[in-house]
Amino acid sequence: MSHQNVIVLDFGGQYNQLIARRVRECGVYCEVKPCTMPLADIKAMNPIGIIFTGGPNSVYEPDSPHVDPAIFELGVPILGICYGCQLMAHTLGGRVTAATADSAREYGKTKTYFNTDCKLFKGLPAEGISWMSHGDYMEKVPEGFALVAHSDACPNVAICDESRGFYGVQYHPEVNHTEHGTDMIRNFLYEACGAKGDWTMGDYKVTAIKALQEKIGDGRVLLALSGGVDSSVAAALLAEAVGKQLTCVFVDHGLMRLNEGDEVEAAFAKWDINFIRVDAEERFLNKLAGITEPERKRKIIGEEFIRVFEEEAKKIGAVDFLAQGTIYPDVIESGLGKAAVIKSHHNVGGLPDFVDFKEIVEPLRLLFKDEVRQLGRELGLPEYLVSRQPFPGPGLAIRVIGDLTKDKLDLLRHADFIFREELANANLEHCPDQYFAALTNMRSVGVMGDGRTYDYAIALRAVTTDDFMTADWARLPFEVIDRASVRIVNEVPGVNRVLYDVTSKPPATVEFE
Ligand code: XMP
Repeated sequence: MSHQNVIVLDFGGQYNQLIARRVRECGVYCEVKPCTMPLADIKAMNPIGIIFTGGPNSVYEPDSPHVDPAIFELGVPILGICYGCQLMAHTLGGRVTAATADSAREYGKTKTYFNTDCKLFKGLPAEGISWMSHGDYMEKVPEGFALVAHSDACPNVAICDESRGFYGVQYHPEVNHTEHGTDMIRNFLYEACGAKGDWTMGDYKVTAIKALQEKIGDGRVLLALSGGVDSSVAAALLAEAVGKQLTCVFVDHGLMRLNEGDEVEAAFAKWDINFIRVDAEERFLNKLAGITEPERKRKIIGEEFIRVFEEEAKKIGAVDFLAQGTIYPDVIESGLGKAAVIKSHHNVGGLPDFVDFKEIVEPLRLLFKDEVRQLGRELGLPEYLVSRQPFPGPGLAIRVIGDLTKDKLDLLRHADFIFREELANANLEHCPDQYFAALTNMRSVGVMGDGRTYDYAIALRAVTTDDFMTADWARLPFEVIDRASVRIVNEVPGVNRVLYDVTSKPPATVEFE
């Protein structure tokens, strides 16, 4: 089935894949293409709309990227964002200049006033916050264009020529900080381009499976499965695409939460793939025995993971493809373009480059986390796997403060399970962005029955965050903390005190080590 499509022409902006993601979110298929794409190729794709992205250049610089002016003759609606808006104005006879500080240069959240007669703003509030990031200014708008939004500092924040379906906005509708930004993109798609909303994540699945089958042919694929959302979804997708040609290596380091290893294994039971679960608990705990320094723990775990994976890879023999669950935010961190090379060595806990493979396969490379979750659901992965909160690679090792023993890990697993269960009972399991129990290294005096105890304190941690770079401690209802606390001291031998962490990040971090 062929879908309507939108082309996002990339002028080098930071948010280009985010624009693509918003278009997908609106139920329309889209592809990001370089701004140098020849006009004939653009025409051949028969897009219902084109979006020009932002970019770091100024349109009046001689080397700045441009478009073939004939693109404006295609009869296809165009939305220009930031640089894209200025490019549209510049190409169609307007004038763009560098804004001086006191006129119209704008950065950050800006109060903006919209003309809701314009299709782009139809049905939306006439005032709102938009996210600006531009140093240039449209001094003169092209003929035929109307001004349809302004801010206190800038008279021409958005322009349009509805007769030709051309729209330009100086701000970034694709970022969360712009109120109703996605609605504006939806209006462009549905009101200006005539989108039908004929694309879903189910279609993505079908397309991705076909592309994987074409790429892999009858080759063999190896995937390191951590049990996290990304590698699990990548594994499920590959399982659908190439079945037995896929081998998943799941290194169970014994630092997982309660039942986690079994859950991961069970989730993959329905696919006819080669699934290897390596029980490496003893091996990891031996290496970690007596180690108290957090960074040492992390290094040992990272290294040991690689060793185990390497040994398994050798047993399997030559593999053609190494698959990874790299998702788009990982790609951004590495810088677009170069990302494939960087990630092949470092994404999955620093996998070795001497595994004998020809190529890397990264089927989730252009998706954002919530899209990956959606795809996981399409593939039939269980909800507890798909919606699970982040869990660090070093696992519970960095939640047991100080030296690690199997007993301490078991104690923590039990307390952590109770805390998670109590959040689920209160329907709060998706409310804090991350939550867990940690075993402090502190023992203190308590009284149980008529006897004195000298036992461990468990710390509970729950945080809210957008990006995990900063986080606030979650204001959980006291009743929930109370129920978890009562159950933990009653049900977990060796614990007589429960603490709730009320520190944000910074100055603390999310994890304890
Ligand atoms: P921190 O403790 O740095 O954690 O505030 C921020 C987020 O990162 C996760 N985290 C890790 N994830 N490998 C991972 O895959 C790691 O070594 C690691 N260390 C921390 C942490 O759980 C939180 O979500």
